[in-house]
Amino acid sequence: MNARKVALECLLTLSHTSASIASVVDSAFGRYTIDGRERRLVNGLVYGVIRWQRHLDWVLNQFINPRFQLDARHRNILRLGAFQLLHLDGIPAHAAIYETVQLATSHHRKSARGRKAAGFINAVLRSVQRKGTSLAYPPLDANPIEHIAISLSYPTWLVKRWLQTRGVSWTLAFCRASNQIAPLALRVNSLLTQREAVCQFLETNGIAAKVSKIAPDGLVLENRAITAFDATGDQSLKDILRREDIYVQDESAMLVSHLLSPKDARFIVDLCAAPGGKTTHLAHLMGNTGKLIAADVSTEKIALLQKNCQRVGVRNLETRVMDATKEDIGFIKTADGVLIDAPCSGFGTLRRHPDIRWNKTFDQIRALSEMQYNLLKNAAQHIKPGGILVYSTCSIEPMENEEVVQRFLTEFPMYTVENARRFLPDVPANAVTPQGFLQTFPHEHGVDGTFAARLRKVV
Ligand SMILES: C[S@@+](CC[C@H](N)C(=O)[O-])C[C@H]1O[C@@H](n2cnc3c(N)ncnc32)[C@H](O)[C@@H]1O
Repeated sequence: MNARKVALECLLTLSHTSASIASVVDSAFGRYTIDGRERRLVNGLVYGVIRWQRHLDWVLNQFINPRFQLDARHRNILRLGAFQLLHLDGIPAHAAIYETVQLATSHHRKSARGRKAAGFINAVLRSVQRKGTSLAYPPLDANPIEHIAISLSYPTWLVKRWLQTRGVSWTLAFCRASNQIAPLALRVNSLLTQREAVCQFLETNGIAAKVSKIAPDGLVLENRAITAFDATGDQSLKDILRREDIYVQDESAMLVSHLLSPKDARFIVDLCAAPGGKTTHLAHLMGNTGKLIAADVSTEKIALLQKNCQRVGVRNLETRVMDATKEDIGFIKTADGVLIDAPCSGFGTLRRHPDIRWNKTFDQIRALSEMQYNLLKNAAQHIKPGGILVYSTCSIEPMENEEVVQRFLTEFPMYTVENARRFLPDVPANAVTPQGFLQTFPHEHGVDGTFAARLRKVV
């Protein structure tokens, strides 16, 4: 099956469902036989078009009469063509245009309608090729919101918000870094093997990896274009990585479990645990001993967590399905540490999930911050004196991070912040805020945006 056809099918599915990009691409790879190189192209095209959607539409609209009504199919064919011309290296312009025009004709083969559509797409893409890189954007100094939103492809409301709270240079740097392709990072279970042994194993499969600079158990694949969907020979990378001693996880997420000092703990509770990234890490850091309870509101997600925990040999686990904002969670009262890895906007993970910029609204962030506070509040009364409560998100929004923790500390003055630096000696100095919270950013640390606060109940 032709890679561009598969990519177009994925884009059309994404334009009328709320499915995640990963699930749509994964399901397409399940339906069609596509080799490793083509899989990489499908992946690059689908993620790239979604990431650059606003920029692509703005460029295309310079060459399309505004009265002309484009249907979703032709809009997405044009986006695919413009993306290859403007953002993808390695595909000659004539090949990108020819292959994209073929997508239009293949649908209405040789009909007058098909020829007309092909002629239109060909003409628009030739204009993009000639003039697409020399268009004048709204100037940065006079109109920074639209300049950044259009040239870097973000919704206006988000850019406006970041400019107001963080300023121009932060917003530019963050938006640029969040448009990069994130490398695949792996956490190695050092109870079972060493990072170097996994590096060697990957190398024998033709995959170069290096040791993480910030996460003690982390490895990072050198080639950013490699995704979990890739295949080497007749084995997919997903199969290669289905080892007991490896878990795919961003380097910044690998830092959070350390904040619970799990090596010294006998009992830890993970209240928003699925799909189990941090649960599996906690089990590993606890030496697979003591007791670990993982809870989540979703039955399906707990089933996935159980599968993941089984794969990596977790032996100290109990699971619960529950709403941790309101149900009785009295069982946490003897825990040494409780983790709340709260549901959040995910804006720290835009490199991996480019679609969330288009799907989230300000009202959702406000509702999330209320829910995040309620998760902390429900846990607060049960934590034992001296017990540890770690709150984390993969967000960069103060409204979901510092402000939630500040509100909590005002309502529950028996909690105090313990500086993350003591538990994460190797992270860069600017990854710990003056208040002692962990906060990473893609543009500063080359990893996802992760926030975490370690709180101790003092009485
Ligand atoms: C950020 S994800 C957790 C990721 C996980 N800790 C990991 O490292 O793989 C947030 C999780 O919280 C769960 N969740 C959402 N609302 C919840 C609630 N009220 N009570 C318990 N879990 C909840 C979601 O189902 C989701 O699995």
